[in-house]
Amino acid sequence: MERVRFGDTGLSVSPVAFGTWQLSPRFWGEQSKADAIAAMKLAVDKGINLFDTADAYGDGYAETVLGEALRDLPRDELVITTKFFNHFNADASRYPDLSPAYLTERCEASLKRLGIDTIDVCLLHMFDPLTPLDAVADTLDTLRAQGKIRAIGVSNHTVEQLRAQRRFGPYAVVQPPYSLVDPAIENDLLPYCQAENIAVMVYSPMHKGLLTGKYTGSETFSDFRANHPDFQGERFKELCAGVQSLRPMAERYGLSVYQLVLAATLMHPAIHVAICGIKTPEHIAEAAGAMGTALEREDYFAVRKALCKPAKIADASGSRK
Ligand SMILES: NC(=O)c1ccc[n+]([C@@H]2O[C@H](COP(=O)([O-])OP(=O)(O)OC[C@H]3O[C@@H](n4cnc5c(N)ncnc54)[C@H](OP(=O)(O)O)[C@@H]3O)[C@@H](O)[C@H]2O)c1
Repeated sequence: MERVRFGDTGLSVSPVAFGTWQLSPRFWGEQSKADAIAAMKLAVDKGINLFDTADAYGDGYAETVLGEALRDLPRDELVITTKFFNHFNADASRYPDLSPAYLTERCEASLKRLGIDTIDVCLLHMFDPLTPLDAVADTLDTLRAQGKIRAIGVSNHTVEQLRAQRRFGPYAVVQPPYSLVDPAIENDLLPYCQAENIAVMVYSPMHKGLLTGKYTGSETFSDFRANHPDFQGERFKELCAGVQSLRPMAERYGLSVYQLVLAATLMHPAIHVAICGIKTPEHIAEAAGAMGTALEREDYFAVRKALCKPAKIADASGSRK
């Protein structure tokens, strides 16, 4: 079983994590619960021990489904991350709320849905501009003292927001967006995390499906991607052409295009984990198959060059010229 040290948390985790956002109908449409549970169980068979969820995914539904799967899984061998931020109204609208009373209430509700005693990593889903940072940290500290959470971290924070949070609490994990078409955090967040030994679990490593190798550029979408700029017109076509150009290299490594891209993503020394969005057992089997593969340096940069976004002027891989 491949495991990496998860920064300063004391946890050992698989470099591929199981992402449960796909169980949010408002973003991804209805998904088969049976497929999701079968995929969660297969994940463990394939050596994955890290599961990522949030109370916002399907307004608690993803946590409930994960909780159902956990009943048949070895809880002590697994690491569960969940996130809080939203205040949910009865009419399905939301607003930011990390106030002490609400954060405490949300934590209790998540523990119940997941059917566990302790959340291994509790993440602030986003930065709440209204709650004082010391109040958030104090609440998390109390929850930790009560044994309800273990490590703490943040998601979707800038470096400055993270730096500020860490003045008040031992935030040891970050969950930012990152893919080889969107590597912006390499300029600031990743070097900072590397220097501070902060555990990094990136999300959307396949750029919400675009890098999986199954799209040609002519597809249309009925989920949230129908309004995503990278899934439209010439931009989508050009990005897909870049992905398809990786096929010969993937074959040379005996990998699928998906696995080649994921293996390259995991080569960044600041990245401990890539959270893969999973709908089916086939998805998680493919993601698990990318663990343990490193590309030659030259190939790594060739992958980056192929995936460089059309609108980008230059990044670490050099310009597109
Ligand atoms: N902290 C945050 O704010 C935040 C935000 C977003 C996500 N996340 C976390 O990160 C996870 C991953 O993000 P993401 O969902 O954007 O992930 P992703 O891995 O970039 O894309 C996932 C999508 O790729 C497609 N796919 C997955 N495996 C495939 C395979 N083997 N072959 C072909 N297609 C495949 C599926 O969609 P199609 O089949 O429909 O193409 C799937 O929904 C989420 O589940 C969630 O846990 C966190």
